[in-house]
Amino acid sequence: MSAIQKAVIPAAGLGTRFLPATKATPKEMLPVVDKPAIQYVVEEAVAAGLSDVLMVTGRNKRPLEDHFDRNYELEEALARKGDADRLAKVQESSDLATMHYVRQGDPRGLGHAVLCAAPHVGDQPFAVLLGDDLIDPRDPLLKRMAEIQAQEGGSVIALMEVDPAQIHMYGCAAVAPTGDSDVVRVTGLVEKPDPSEAPSNLAIIGRYVLDPAVFEVLRKTEPGRGNEIQLTDALQKLAEDESLGGPVHGVVFKGRRYDTGDRGDYLRAIVRLAAEREDLGPDFKKWLRDYVEEECP
Ligand code: UTP
Repeated sequence: MSAIQKAVIPAAGLGTRFLPATKATPKEMLPVVDKPAIQYVVEEAVAAGLSDVLMVTGRNKRPLEDHFDRNYELEEALARKGDADRLAKVQESSDLATMHYVRQGDPRGLGHAVLCAAPHVGDQPFAVLLGDDLIDPRDPLLKRMAEIQAQEGGSVIALMEVDPAQIHMYGCAAVAPTGDSDVVRVTGLVEKPDPSEAPSNLAIIGRYVLDPAVFEVLRKTEPGRGNEIQLTDALQKLAEDESLGGPVHGVVFKGRRYDTGDRGDYLRAIVRLAAEREDLGPDFKKWLRDYVEEECP
């Protein structure tokens, strides 16, 4: 049993890469096959034993809250029709977890969004799952991160090897090896570095297990890149001075992960998850095979 009980899901970003779809709808509500991306993320938290979920929302927050709430009208209509399957699907998201919400008035960056969670989190280590980052449910990552946090203390971030030419799109970690092949000691972090200056090709992906000391550091963190309060800048301070909140470790993830805030990755997520579904996969794959043969020789 992990000591971590609370999950924080920042979902207040502007989602500009997905305009105009995200003009009036949070990007986290965009469907991946037939479920909004955010539901996969909440399911992942619950599967890792975290059933207390705080969502950091912003403008257009209503759809996010409504999705995890009951919809009596719809439930009654489906019950009247005797449509038990669809009724179960509607009830699934409202029965998932104990949901809490806090509003980030101004989207001043991921670090600021995490800071909005401070009163709810208190003084225990907690998990952060980015609402637009989808980790394939068959490749569990959060449990391993919680295990390392329980063993080593401090904070744990998730890292993934990327093509060195792409590292300027991510936070990047300088690391030292540990006795575990999938775990590294993080010695430094830099947000979206130029490839020529990147300390590694290990990119930070959207899962964190953080020591609550991060809040104090965030309060003192000035806006950085993009004039936003960057979580990476606060983690850099923790990594360079262990006395602030213990060490920072990284778990190197080798599984499947999609950034659903990026249009290309979003499409890949849908194709892959649809192809692997028992109900949709067989027909969809047959169509996909024909399509590729005809259109992409
Ligand atoms: P992104 O870096 O993807 O930024 O945020 P964004 O503004 O949402 O999207 P683009 O780049 O304009 O398309 C990563 C995660 O952090 C949340 C987002 O909702 C997303 O889940 N976030 C970001 C906040 O909650 N608040 C912020 O101020 C910024």
